[in-house]
Amino acid sequence: MEIDPKRMTIGFVGTGTIAEAVVTGLGKTAFCDTPVMLSPRNAGVAARLAAANRNVSIALGNQDVLDRSDLVFVAVRPQIVEEVVRSLRFRPDHHVISFVAVTPMDQLLAWIDQPVRLGLAIPLPFVADLQGATAIYPPDEVSHALFSALGTAIQVENRAEFELLAVASCLMATYFGILDATSTWLQSQGLSGTAGDAYLRQLFSGLAHTASANPVARFDELIGEHSTRGGLNEQVLEDFRAFGGTAALQRALDRILARVRL
Ligand SMILES: NC(=O)c1ccc[n+]([C@@H]2O[C@H](COP(=O)([O-])OP(=O)(O)OC[C@H]3O[C@@H](n4cnc5c(N)ncnc54)[C@H](OP(=O)(O)O)[C@@H]3O)[C@@H](O)[C@H]2O)c1
Repeated sequence: MEIDPKRMTIGFVGTGTIAEAVVTGLGKTAFCDTPVMLSPRNAGVAARLAAANRNVSIALGNQDVLDRSDLVFVAVRPQIVEEVVRSLRFRPDHHVISFVAVTPMDQLLAWIDQPVRLGLAIPLPFVADLQGATAIYPPDEVSHALFSALGTAIQVENRAEFELLAVASCLMATYFGILDATSTWLQSQGLSGTAGDAYLRQLFSGLAHTASANPVARFDELIGEHSTRGGLNEQVLEDFRAFGGTAALQRALDRILARVRL
């Protein structure tokens, strides 16, 4: 279904890192003129976004956001979401999408206390550059249209699948951790930080491009294409596995899944 960006107002309850990324990204898409209402916290972020985008206004408070929006993004931290949502009066015709990690939908619906249309999404910071990978549950045509404009949107049919994508989204820091550990090692062996970091940025950028440019290639096929039998790349992967790298990664994912499923 075609979504008409001019026929809705998007409200944000919580104007922090992820709200800023989404608003910045939307400003580069067909949704650039869609009215956006921001809650006044954080004041600095809200002021910056309102100054940079003619479609963005700052509401008087959270209730004012709801009263002036059709589509409401809940973008506060998990620790305060119950208190914030319970304090608000939703309309039955509100469409609500929560970005809050690990909050079950039935709990959110109970706090909202209205038969709203509710969905979950996990936008990541690079939606600002239209490079997002956004998990969506349940499938939702409006959410899909918005987050497809901000990169790639992946819709799943059940909560368990959504939880698994949430686990995968927790690899962001580890990705940079691999770069950081390699950079540190290169420097310890005598390479300048400037040369090593420039090389690593482009190496990983090229690999990420290869993975996205070959969407049907399995990752084990890409391993094969990037390692010669008996060669150096093969040896590093074998050592990584033998020294516990894969086991450590999968154990960390198990532990996150246990938290996400609480
Ligand atoms: N960052 C990510 O990569 C990411 C990815 C996916 C999902 N999420 C989820 O998105 C949510 C927001 O994350 P974030 O990284 O954007 O956090 P954040 O930067 O801390 O933003 C949260 C914002 O909520 C504001 N706030 C605090 N109390 C409020 C209240 N009573 N009413 C309205 N706003 C209030 C804060 O304002 P003050 O600064 O004034 O306290 C802050 O600007 C979290 O639930 C997180 O799990 C984050």
